[in-house]
Amino acid sequence: MTEPYPCEHPVLLAPMAGYTDVVFRALCTSFGCDLTFTEMISAKGLTFGNVKTGEYLSLGEDETSIGVQLFGHEPDLMADAVKIVSDRLGPHLFCIDLNMGCPAQKIVSNGDGSALMRTPMLAGQITEAVKKVSPVPVTVKFRKGWDDDTCVSFAKILEDSGADALCLHPRTRMQQYRGTADRAAIGAVKAAVRIPVIGNGDITDGESALSMLKETGCDGVMIGRAALGQPWIFREVKAAIEGKPYAAPVLSDRLAVAIRHAERIEALKGPHGLVELRKHLPRYLHGIRGSSALRTRLNEAKNAAEIREFLLDSLKNITI
Ligand SMILES: Cc1cc2nc3c(=O)[nH]c(=O)nc-3n(C[C@H](O)[C@H](O)[C@H](O)COP(=O)(O)O)c2cc1C
Repeated sequence: MTEPYPCEHPVLLAPMAGYTDVVFRALCTSFGCDLTFTEMISAKGLTFGNVKTGEYLSLGEDETSIGVQLFGHEPDLMADAVKIVSDRLGPHLFCIDLNMGCPAQKIVSNGDGSALMRTPMLAGQITEAVKKVSPVPVTVKFRKGWDDDTCVSFAKILEDSGADALCLHPRTRMQQYRGTADRAAIGAVKAAVRIPVIGNGDITDGESALSMLKETGCDGVMIGRAALGQPWIFREVKAAIEGKPYAAPVLSDRLAVAIRHAERIEALKGPHGLVELRKHLPRYLHGIRGSSALRTRLNEAKNAAEIREFLLDSLKNITI
C-alpha cells in the first residue's frame, strides 16, 4: 500500500527547520529522494501575512512537486493556510503535512507540534478541517506520545479524521532526541491503521533503512539527520531497497557535492546564503581526517569561489 506516495517504498527527506531549504532539497532529489518537505511553516504566520510565502514556498529548478509542512493548533486557521499554500503552488503541491511532533518548547507552549498529542480530539479536528479544503493528500507527522506511548490510539483518530498517510518518529516529546527510535511503535501503528505509514528515526544507511522496513512493515522511510552533509544517502537507500549495487562516493565526489551546495546557495540567496551554509559545510567533512584546519578556513571564505578553492586544495592533505 503506497498511496498517496510516488512509488512502492518511498524514501523521503524529513522536514528540518533551518536545513531543508530549496537548495538542500534539490540536492537530495538529485540523489534519488522520492519526496521532500519544506521546513515547518506557521499556519498563523501564513494567514497573517507574517511569513513570506516566497521564502518558504518557492521551488528549486529541479523540483516539480513538494510536501508542505504546516504547524498550528486552530482548525480553521490551518484550513485557511492550506488554501494559501495550494493557491501558491498549484500542481506542484504534492501533499500537506501536519506537524504534530515538534518537541521545541516555544512550539509546544502554544499548543502546537507534539503538544497536540496531549489533545488528540483537537488533532483530529485539525486533520478533518484541513482534509475538507485540501486539494492534495493530507499526511500527519507525529511522535510516540508526549511522555508515554499513545501513538496507536492517536494514529487511529488521525485515520478516522481523514488523514491519507502517517509518519511516525517513535520517540516521546519528553525524550526529544535521546535514546533510540522505538521501532516496535511503528509496527504497532502500521498494524492498527489501513493508511500508509512511513517510518522515521535513526536511519543512517541502506542497511538500517531495510531493517526499518522489514521489522515494522512500514510502507516507506523518512531520513533526517543522516542526510545532512551526505545527501547521497538517498542513492544508497534506494539501491538497498531495489537490491542494486551501490558504491559510496569517494572523497573528491563528496567535496564536489559540497561545492555544488555552496554555488547554488550563493546563486539563489547571495551572501546571506553563505551564512546559512555554515551549518551544512562541517557536516560534509564529518569523519574526514585532518579536516579541522579546513573547517576554520571555510568559515572565513568570502564566497563560493573561495569555498571551491579551499575544498579542492584540501584534497592534497585530507583522507576519509
Ligand atoms: C535540525 C532539525 C530540525 C527539525 N525540524 C523539523 C520540522 O520542521 N518538522 C518536523 O516534523 N520535524 C523536524 N525535525 C525532526 C525530523 O524531521 C525527524 O523526525 C527526526 O530528526 C528523526 O529522524 P532522523 O533520526 O532521521 O533524524 C527536525 C530535526 C532536526 C534535527
